[in-house]
Amino acid sequence: MTAAREPIGVIGTGYVGLVTAVGFAELGSEVYCVDIDHAKIELLSRGEVPIYEPGLAELIARNGERLHFSTSLDEAVAGARLLFVSVGTPPTYAGDADLSAVLAVVEAMPASAEHALVMKSTVPCGTGRSIVRMLVEAGKGDLAYVSCPEFLKEGSALADFTHPDRVVVGDDGDGWAADAVSELYAPLGAPLVRTDVASAEMIKLASNAFLATKISFINEIANVCEETGANVLEVARGVGLDQRIGPKFLSAGIGYGGSCFSKDVSALKLLAANSGYHFQLLSAVTEVNELQKRRVLSKLTKRFDALAGRRIGLLGLAFKPNTDDMRGASSLVLAARLSAEGAQVRAFDPIATDEARKIMPELDCADSVEGAIAGADAIVLVTEWPQFLALDWAAVAVAMSGNVVIDGRNALDGRAVAAAGLDYEGIGIG
Ligand SMILES: NC(=O)c1ccc[n+]([C@@H]2O[C@H](COP(=O)([O-])OP(=O)(O)OC[C@H]3O[C@@H](n4cnc5c(N)ncnc54)[C@H](O)[C@@H]3O)[C@@H](O)[C@H]2O)c1
Repeated sequence: MTAAREPIGVIGTGYVGLVTAVGFAELGSEVYCVDIDHAKIELLSRGEVPIYEPGLAELIARNGERLHFSTSLDEAVAGARLLFVSVGTPPTYAGDADLSAVLAVVEAMPASAEHALVMKSTVPCGTGRSIVRMLVEAGKGDLAYVSCPEFLKEGSALADFTHPDRVVVGDDGDGWAADAVSELYAPLGAPLVRTDVASAEMIKLASNAFLATKISFINEIANVCEETGANVLEVARGVGLDQRIGPKFLSAGIGYGGSCFSKDVSALKLLAANSGYHFQLLSAVTEVNELQKRRVLSKLTKRFDALAGRRIGLLGLAFKPNTDDMRGASSLVLAARLSAEGAQVRAFDPIATDEARKIMPELDCADSVEGAIAGADAIVLVTEWPQFLALDWAAVAVAMSGNVVIDGRNALDGRAVAAAGLDYEGIGIG
């Protein structure tokens, strides 16, 4: 890459912001990162990485000279025209997206015809139009606005940055900023969707809602498989070979988690409701997912008369492997429900324990997978970290008090588990 690459600002250095910053730095841009979290900026300035994402620490180290970290917007505004916004948009109590962080950034922007806000945060359809109106009312109508939603997946975020399925760039202006954003992404060679702002915003929400629907759909099929003796792994294989459907997101389990699917489904549902439309399907998607997170309970109560006093080992806490992100993790619901039934829960996660303790300080966390297994009446695979898939099941059988293994992700070798004398049950495996 040449030194002529466009410099950028990145406001909000969380999962999306840091990956975007490092990705563009790797492509040759100077990147000015801004965050209001002083502790985070201090860590990053020292070359330390506040989140776990495979490969991120190495890339931050490699691009140290091109990455600048600050708690003030000034350096970013002075150094770059394009200011990527990647602050959080968590759900409000009402279920809408909380746009307060986004609006704080909008307010802090200078009046400038040379700068553009590039929205990577996931925002409800119509937000861009409102922001442009606000900017005009504040005398900052010359600032350009581009919607560039992010589709990365935690755990493979850097690969997703480098090989996106598509890049979506929405603008309703004269196009200079959207052209510049498109140019930045051009070296990645991904299909470019140039569109208007509202459609770009809707593409993001619709994508996540569709993926969540696909997961809830296969989970319901899994539940019917359990009643009918079919095996959801076989069913998903056969269904997924249909090119109109495809094999991805057809893995049954104990429900989706994470910071995005639940909140984006809810935001889209409320967006529709606020516009007078009842998006019925999404209510079912959410309800199925919430029930699915509790499904392990019924599997355990079928085996034990009561869960009170039973030792249950949870293998994994993070909402998916290769991340420390605990937002919306199925483990939170499962641990809370098991504890409420009086079970003694002991959990182990290779990376997410510290994050989990922030949310569930009372949770008993083991220092090793062996610690979670020792003396357990039952163990539950919650997060399919590779090290759990490689367990020596004969040794597990010796270490446990009981013999129940519930595979919440259908990721274990059920035959190997059963061959060790353990009572294996997956989700929808009949
Ligand atoms: N995490 C994902 O997998 C993912 C994927 C696609 C899209 N998104 C969307 O991207 C956005 C960011 O998500 P995330 O997971 O990276 O969030 P995050 O919580 O990890 O990071 C947000 C960062 O923004 C900072 N921040 C808040 N207010 C600020 C302000 N006024 N100025 C500067 N910094 C500020 C916070 O301190 C934090 O570091 C959300 O809208 C999310 O829905 C997330």
